[in-house]
Amino acid sequence: MTKLSVNINKIATLRNARGGNNPDLLEFAKKIQLFGAQGITVHPRPDERHVRYSDVYELKSVVNTEFNIEGNPNDKFIKMVLEVKPTQVTLVPDGVNDITSSSGWDTIKNESFLTEIIGEFKKNNIRTSVFINPELKFLENLNKIGADRVELYTEDYAINYEKGNPLAITPYIECARMLNQLNIGVNAGHDLSLNNISFFKQKINNLLEVSIGHALITESLFQGLETVIKLYLQKLS
Ligand code: PXP
Repeated sequence: MTKLSVNINKIATLRNARGGNNPDLLEFAKKIQLFGAQGITVHPRPDERHVRYSDVYELKSVVNTEFNIEGNPNDKFIKMVLEVKPTQVTLVPDGVNDITSSSGWDTIKNESFLTEIIGEFKKNNIRTSVFINPELKFLENLNKIGADRVELYTEDYAINYEKGNPLAITPYIECARMLNQLNIGVNAGHDLSLNNISFFKQKINNLLEVSIGHALITESLFQGLETVIKLYLQKLS
């Protein structure tokens, strides 16, 4: 069974575009869970252009499924995670000006940093996951670092699958096999969509969780379009 954690950053982006509180992030989080998703993911960034730090505190009382907070563990992020105590924290080495996450951790260079920070979260009973490119060399020291899970960065798979190159799944299969052997849980995320998720799920053993934002919200808009256009036409007739 693979859990679906919906990344609601895009809802916050839409809200922020107009000021005010429409769409209401908390209402969306409630509905997403009501419709069956098993988790809510947020990725607050230092400039708060998507989800704000205050949203994360407010969501705490609304999320009754798995709450996953992603981000680069700077001091403000660490403080917030320790106060909110989500189910899982996913550590991502994104730069302040990155449009979105564009690389996983170099776990070799960052071994002591990750060990220290993961130790702190684990002391507080927060499950830890690290965002990693599908390269075996970055998995070897993960038990030493103490990570409970890895989120495999799936952009490369998604791009190549779309281009008709399903062999791009191979490094992910190899990483998942190694993680299973190391007894570290496998999550995945970035650019997963209705088009590419089935093949990924079929090929990856013990895929515990996917976090999906951009495509899921785009697909929801597209699938909802006909209903909403018809509702407007009824009102205008
Ligand atoms: N995982 C991480 C670490 C991310 O930064 C993001 C995007 O914020 C996602 C997963 C979700 O990616 P997408 O929005 O393409 O589904």
